[in-house]
Amino acid sequence: MRVFVAGGSGVMGRRLVPQLVAAGHQVTATTTNSAKLGLLAQLGAEGVVMDGLDAASVGETVAKAAPEVIVHQMTAIAPVHAGKPDFRHMDRWFAPTVRLRTEGTDHLLAAAEATGVTHFIAQGYASWNGIREGGWVKTEEDPLDPHTDSVARVGMAAILHVEEAVLRVDGTVLRYGAFYGPGASDDQVELIRKRQFPLVGASTGYSSWVHLDDAAGATVLAVEQRAKGVFNIVDDEPAPASEWLPYLATCAGAKRPMRVPAWLARLLAGDVAVTMMTEGRGFSNAKAKRELGWNLSYPSWRKGFKEGLT
Ligand SMILES: NC(=O)c1ccc[n+]([C@@H]2O[C@H](COP(=O)([O-])OP(=O)(O)OC[C@H]3O[C@@H](n4cnc5c(N)ncnc54)[C@H](OP(=O)(O)O)[C@@H]3O)[C@@H](O)[C@H]2O)c1
Repeated sequence: MRVFVAGGSGVMGRRLVPQLVAAGHQVTATTTNSAKLGLLAQLGAEGVVMDGLDAASVGETVAKAAPEVIVHQMTAIAPVHAGKPDFRHMDRWFAPTVRLRTEGTDHLLAAAEATGVTHFIAQGYASWNGIREGGWVKTEEDPLDPHTDSVARVGMAAILHVEEAVLRVDGTVLRYGAFYGPGASDDQVELIRKRQFPLVGASTGYSSWVHLDDAAGATVLAVEQRAKGVFNIVDDEPAPASEWLPYLATCAGAKRPMRVPAWLARLLAGDVAVTMMTEGRGFSNAKAKRELGWNLSYPSWRKGFKEGLT
């Protein structure tokens, strides 16, 4: 198939493009930075420069590639696009990503329609953002939490925009868990090594994780099967921070994370960090395994953290 990966140079794209190429697909992959075109060629793609926030740039690039499938992996969370990570002002930190998930999605969908692209897949999110009521592990039937009570609300609204817009054209939303793997969690690990990533209270909040290679594998399956609807692309073991954080610290050779009370964490890192660590809800991958036939190389973060960090 001719596959267009918008954001093919990112942490996810760099693992996805080679898997698509190995499966025999012809891949066009985008970056905003012409210095990365060589990297995209090495991965086996035709690299192109595209600004996802510029409708004309998106329209022309998609028309030229004439793909059968578009995979939207554009985010801009890294300092180069978004400045320093800032949980307290998450709305500011996530502003470029929010634009890519709203305007960027709309531009790609318009280009898809104009070019006759028949399938559209987009990156969603399912780590700690399940609805904060009932059980700790959510399926695709459960709503995402809009987090209207915090600065996470703009980012969550953008995720909902992706879902609504993509489902309207019978596309696929892959709600990836928190990424880890090459280049994906270095900043977090650095904070843990500096003991600047503490446990918060009892740290009962759940998160779901996924290794980049497994997330890429699920994406290839969604491309090939033209899957429709929403899928949680997470590993088998959603877990509370009280379990994964000390384990991650051990794998990274760091000291045990400190524990701070919620009021202090709120002061230092803001409401969103506290909610994530104390009330987060994780996700089940049963649907993706059942319907896509997805097999994970890293069924648990326990294996992935250990192999990646020790
Ligand atoms: N589910 C998750 O846990 C999750 C999801 C997303 C990101 N993250 C994490 O966030 C960190 C940073 O991620 P990131 O998204 O900033 O970096 P990234 O993975 O390097 O970037 C994602 C892709 O979006 C592209 N992009 C950025 N701005 C664009 C624009 N205006 N138009 C078109 N494409 C654009 C980037 O292109 P360029 O080559 O131009 O940079 C890149 O190809 C990583 O550690 C990652 O693991 C986690």
